[in-house]
Amino acid sequence: MWKNIDKAIPDSIFGLTEQFKNDPNPDKVNLGAGVYKDDIGRTPILKAVKAAEKLLLENENTKSYLPIPGHPTYAKCVQALLFGDTSEVVSSNRASTIHAPGGTGALRMGAELLRKFLPTASVWVSSPTWANHKGIFSSAKFPVSDYPYYDPRTKAVDLDRFLDCLDQVPRGDIVILHACCHNPSGVDLSKDQWQIVVDVAKEKKWIPFIDFAYQGFGVGVEEDRYPVGLFSAAGMDLFVASSFSKNLGLYNERAGALTILSPTEREAKVAMSHLKTVIRTCYSNPPAHGGLVAATVLEDKQLTEIWTKELSDMRLRIVNMRAALVDGLSKRGVDSDFSYIKDQRGMFSFSGLSDDVVMWLKTNKSIYVVDGGRINVAGLTTANIDFVCDSITEALAV
Ligand code: LMR
Repeated sequence: MWKNIDKAIPDSIFGLTEQFKNDPNPDKVNLGAGVYKDDIGRTPILKAVKAAEKLLLENENTKSYLPIPGHPTYAKCVQALLFGDTSEVVSSNRASTIHAPGGTGALRMGAELLRKFLPTASVWVSSPTWANHKGIFSSAKFPVSDYPYYDPRTKAVDLDRFLDCLDQVPRGDIVILHACCHNPSGVDLSKDQWQIVVDVAKEKKWIPFIDFAYQGFGVGVEEDRYPVGLFSAAGMDLFVASSFSKNLGLYNERAGALTILSPTEREAKVAMSHLKTVIRTCYSNPPAHGGLVAATVLEDKQLTEIWTKELSDMRLRIVNMRAALVDGLSKRGVDSDFSYIKDQRGMFSFSGLSDDVVMWLKTNKSIYVVDGGRINVAGLTTANIDFVCDSITEALAV
C-alpha cells in the first residue's frame, strides 16, 4: 500500500523535539516546543497536581465511562476559570463546555461542529500563528486565510492592517484569536485594542474563536481572561479552546476544553446537543484522569492557592530568562537591539532570528529553535544561558 507514497513532512514543532532527542550532543538545548522547564531543565509535576493525584488514588472508585462531554465538575471549573466564579455567563447557563483531548482537540471539535452548520465559511488566522492552526482547520475542510497581525519591523501589532482586515471579514466567517501570550510572537493586544476587535466582530457578525492555551502565563489568571470577558459581555456567539497543558503542566493528560458561548440558554443547549454527536463519532468520551486532576485542584481552596503560586513562579522565571537573554546579548555587543523580547508575554519570544541563523544554531550548536525564530524562553536556564547567548552572537556574526 505504501510503495508509491512519499513520507509526510514532519511536524514543525514536535518533529524538532524528535530531532533534539536523537541529538547525541551533551550540550544540546531545546528551545522548540512550548513546554515549561524549571531552572534545572526539568518539566516538573506541580505540587498541587501531585496532591490532587494522591487524593484521586485514595478516593477514585470507578474507571467507567465519563459522559460524552466529560465530568460535569470539570466543565464547571473550566467555566469558573474562563469567566470568573461570579460571571453572569455561568449563572445564566449560556455556556456549554466539553472536556476535549487538549487544546488541539478542543480546536478540532469546534472546527468539526462549525463545519456542520457553516459549511461555506472561511477561517482566518493571524499572520503568523501557531503552526498547527492551519492544519487543524484545513483538515476539517475549511479554507484558511491569514489576517495581518505582527509587524517584524516594529516588533508590534500591525494595528491598522489588522483592523482593516477584520473589518473586511465576511459575516459568518470564523476568526481565530489568541487570548494572551500570542503564539508565536508573544505580542498581545492592549485592552483598548481588544475592545475595538469586539466591536468589529459584533458589527460585522463574524464568529470569534479564541485559543486560550496560556491562561496565567501572561499577567495572571484573572488578567489574562480580559478578552474572553469582553466578548462574553457583548452577548454574541463565541468559541473558546482552553487547556490545562501549560498552566497545570498536564501536557500528557490531554486536559483541554471547548466552551461555546451563546446569547441564550436555549441556544447553548442546542450547541451542546450537536457537540455531543461530533464527539461521539470522534473519540466517544474523554479520558478521565487529567480532567479529574484539574477539577480536584480547582475545587479545593488550598490546592488552588498552591497552584496559583506555582503558576506565578513559572511566569516569573520566564520573565527573568527574557531579561537574561536580552542583557546577555547586549553585553556581548550584538548589533541588533533585542530589548523588545522583554516586552513579549508568555512562553514564546519571536526572537527576530532569521531561518538561516536558526539552521546554523541547530547544525553547529545543537540549539533547537522553531523555524521563523520562535524561542521557547522557558527552555533557557542559568546553566545554558551563556552558551545560548555566545552561540547567537557567533551565529549573527557569520
Ligand atoms: C507549541 O506551540 O509549541 C505547543 O503548543 C505545543 C504544540 O502542540 O505545538
